[in-house]
Amino acid sequence: MDRKGRAPMFGGDCSDDYVGNYLRSHEDTISQAYRFDYAENLLVDALFEEYTLLYVGCGTGGFLRLHPRARLVHGIDYSPKMIEACHALIERFAMRNVEATVADFASFRPDRLYDIVQTAGVHGSYLPHTEEALRKVHSLLHPDGYGLFSLTAPPRTLGHYWKRCKSWLRRKPLIEIHPDRFRRMLARTGFAVRLELRKGERLDRYFLLCRKE
Ligand SMILES: C[S@@+](CC[C@H](N)C(=O)[O-])C[C@H]1O[C@@H](n2cnc3c(N)ncnc32)[C@H](O)[C@@H]1O
Repeated sequence: MDRKGRAPMFGGDCSDDYVGNYLRSHEDTISQAYRFDYAENLLVDALFEEYTLLYVGCGTGGFLRLHPRARLVHGIDYSPKMIEACHALIERFAMRNVEATVADFASFRPDRLYDIVQTAGVHGSYLPHTEEALRKVHSLLHPDGYGLFSLTAPPRTLGHYWKRCKSWLRRKPLIEIHPDRFRRMLARTGFAVRLELRKGERLDRYFLLCRKE
């Protein structure tokens, strides 16, 4: 650095040559609301290569392009409209390693196994975690595969205890789950937690990368 804090320039002012590259790379806006989800997906792609990924509840497929190192990303969603929008994004971003099909996770019977199965957008955010769903993920994985799960921990507020009582009386399970309870469910269904991310702002949200045992 010189005295004014500027980085030294080597070989002349080459920044002028690549300003356009930077500009193009920033053209597509990144949703701030989903930055934790972006981090999850980018982390997976940094940790693995040449992997096959089943993305359950892929929706419009906005996160599927964050897996350029994957051999195959297979997104499924039970909403035909979501899959239609997903196909449009696949085209727009020329995602050559991505396929997307309409399918409900519960009845989905693929003719292949995957290296990674990601259910983070469905179980723990749309639907409660169940051991049945975890066993299904387990059955869809190669022997050394990984499950990717997310959960929201219940807040410790009086209002939430009341909500829990009502859900118990109505026999409607809550989506939030205590991380310790979820870890016990994982152990019972044959998963070992290998990595855990926690985003503890307004929502106490966890992301767990678990190896099939
Ligand atoms: C949180 S949204 C995902 C949004 C997506 N990340 C995006 O960027 O568009 C969850 C998605 O899961 C789908 N879904 C929920 N339950 C499902 C199930 N049992 N099987 C397949 N898809 C499911 C919903 O249709 C919805 O599109």
